[in-house]
Amino acid sequence: MDFARVLRRRRMVRLHTGEAVPMEDLERVAHALTRAPSAGWAQGVSGILVTDRDRIAAVAAACGEDEHASRGLGRWLSSAAAHLVICVEPQRYRDRYGEPDKNPSSLDPIPWWWVDGGASLMAVLLAAVDAGISAGFLGGHRAQGARAILEIPDEVDVLGVVTLGPPADDRPSSSLRRERRTDAIRHEHW
Ligand SMILES: Cc1cc2nc3c(=O)[nH]c(=O)nc-3n(C[C@H](O)[C@H](O)[C@H](O)COP(=O)(O)O)c2cc1C
Repeated sequence: MDFARVLRRRRMVRLHTGEAVPMEDLERVAHALTRAPSAGWAQGVSGILVTDRDRIAAVAAACGEDEHASRGLGRWLSSAAAHLVICVEPQRYRDRYGEPDKNPSSLDPIPWWWVDGGASLMAVLLAAVDAGISAGFLGGHRAQGARAILEIPDEVDVLGVVTLGPPADDRPSSSLRRERRTDAIRHEHW
């Protein structure tokens, strides 16, 4: 698909049809995560692709799906064909920035793993559009319940859960009442 079209068509979907998606398409979308840049090429972003129905249901429950559904928004997480849980591994950055061509203090002002996690997230979201699969993102503030179910080690942080699957009719987020900002690009100076 033409890149401008992919970019325009991307939107967060918060309800899927429950239909399955071929594993090779899911793998392709998941692997887009590795195409993002990373600080020092530390490559400290990884994903857990979950397709087992019981595990999807368990993650959904642990991430508060009942509360979401009680607001009339449907069973977003359990309607997905797959979850891609995006993880960041700060230790990989500390190791890399401890190497002779790097300075560990570079990690102080901005912990690069969060930046790289965002870049990987966007790569996955765009790959999903390109593959004709819709995607949504549940932020890590609501996704920590997935840790125990997926046996994620303490030293690994969960950025959030990408839901993948064909889109169903979802209720648009209240955030979308906000207008698209038109002054985000300045020229020559602030
Ligand atoms: C870091 C981040 C966290 C987000 N967390 C959530 C979330 O927990 N639940 C949710 O429904 N949407 C979440 N979103 C989606 C945003 O609400 C959405 O991207 C925004 O409203 C713009 O809509 P669009 O992506 O469809 O263009 C998150 C997006 C980002 C980038």
